[in-house]
Amino acid sequence: MKKILVINGPNLNKLGKRDPKIYGKETLSDIESSMKKLGEAKGFVLDFFQSNSEGDIIDKIHEYQDYNGIILNAGAYSHYSIAIRDAIEIATCPVIEVHLSNIYKREDFRKTSVISEVCLGQITGFGSLSYIMAIEAFARIFNE
Ligand code: DQA
Repeated sequence: MKKILVINGPNLNKLGKRDPKIYGKETLSDIESSMKKLGEAKGFVLDFFQSNSEGDIIDKIHEYQDYNGIILNAGAYSHYSIAIRDAIEIATCPVIEVHLSNIYKREDFRKTSVISEVCLGQITGFGSLSYIMAIEAFARIFNE
């Protein structure tokens, strides 16, 4: 069984309430349930983690040895956290960067991701489907 870790960063615990026009109406637990359902169908065990703190996210990424892949929405940290970037670089499993919104269609400060260079790939702009597409990507990478 492949193990996938799903990490959500700052303010993503407020999904559902937070600017639904940009981030959608689903809560984080709605999204996690859909991911779990698809993940199980693909033969994955999924662990979920959310934190508003940079250090906690880094500590979680450091658990990479327990996982075959990581799906990460680092929220605003994606745009400036060199420390999270460095943690991803240390990780020996692939990391897929996801965003609900299309970061390239928004404010200039969101158009740069300092983590994408060290990620396997980036999925941005599909709302909650971005997370589902990340599971699908791992399913194709691991199961085909
Ligand atoms: C986000 C985009 C970021 O710019 C923002 O700070 C977030 C969410 C997204 O999923 O669209 O917190 O990562």
